[in-house]
Amino acid sequence: MAVMTTFNKVKSFDVESLVQMGSIHVSAPSNIALVKYWGKKLDQRPCNPSLSMTLEKSRTYLSLEFTGRSYLKDELIQIDYFFEGERNDSFSQKIHKYLSILAPSECPYLPYFDLKISSYNTFPHSAGIASSASSMAAIAYALVLLEQQVFSLSDSQENQFKRISHLARLGSGSASRSIEGPYCQWGLDSQGFGNDDYAVGVTQIHSLFNQMNDSILIIDDQVKAVSSTQGHQLMENHPYREARFARAESRVRVLKTILEQGDWKQFCELVEGDALELHGLMMSSTPAYILMRPKTLEAIEKIQWFQKKTSPMLTFTLDAGANLHVLYPQSVTQLVKDFLESELSPLCVEGRMIHDSAGLGLRLETGL
Ligand code: DP6
Repeated sequence: MAVMTTFNKVKSFDVESLVQMGSIHVSAPSNIALVKYWGKKLDQRPCNPSLSMTLEKSRTYLSLEFTGRSYLKDELIQIDYFFEGERNDSFSQKIHKYLSILAPSECPYLPYFDLKISSYNTFPHSAGIASSASSMAAIAYALVLLEQQVFSLSDSQENQFKRISHLARLGSGSASRSIEGPYCQWGLDSQGFGNDDYAVGVTQIHSLFNQMNDSILIIDDQVKAVSSTQGHQLMENHPYREARFARAESRVRVLKTILEQGDWKQFCELVEGDALELHGLMMSSTPAYILMRPKTLEAIEKIQWFQKKTSPMLTFTLDAGANLHVLYPQSVTQLVKDFLESELSPLCVEGRMIHDSAGLGLRLETGL
């Protein structure tokens, strides 16, 4: 893998040199896809490029403590994991599985470390914000910092981001985009931009799109009937598969021009179109399924009414779930928030909304 050549040191090492201790504190954001990744190939490579907005407040904070040894233990991956200060078996198994995927070819030093990871999310588990994106990106970031410390690597930020995104991708596809902000593209497009292996920042952004808000409406806080992983699988024999991948690829290219030129009307059309198409794909899968709830549709109708009658400066997108992300520039914050409070909060579980905004990506922290 060409971009990883500077990391060859992590693959051939003298075990004695691993006998080191340290602790690392980081945070990683979640992200919301504007053009969705839906369908994957081998090694969690995407069937089409996707483009997302990086969030700011919805983050995973993570501490990694490591103690190196020069010998192996029976159970190769040694990890103690604490979520919100307590042991959590199901998350612990997920992380163990992720590190076991990385150990053989990506991070062969891992079996020589006793690891302790503690993390928490700033958003509730039931908020419909994919916690796998921020948590896998946070682990990947911490691992790359561990590598830098243990192997005395000094690499450009660009190469460091590529490595983090690459490792994060192996945990969860969308995690590859939780690196830089405010926008990231993951997947190669037909203009030769992007890479299936890792995400890259999209840098030509009009001021209108630099300071965006995302208010997440918690319309349903129950576990989804069909997971994203199952959804990706259903794309394998989907009748609209090829048309979807071609359309998403072209949307990613068009969206970059829109983001650069600051065309709000086209932005709304494209972003709403891709969100509804994602749900259309679910409804046309075999078996077919629906993740939107009646209140999701009610909220969309209210947004469309507001766009027509009051201001066109808001739009929406959907994750693979019932919750709506309402996107609007900071210049109309008060106007839109008043509308959300009066018209849309009654549709949310206990009136819950999370007011987030476009963010700048990974952050080094001083502690949890
Ligand atoms: C609808 O990244 O959660 O949010 O790679 O299996 O972990 P895995 O799937 P995941 O899928 C995200 C699907 C989506 C669209 C997107 O974020 O691009």
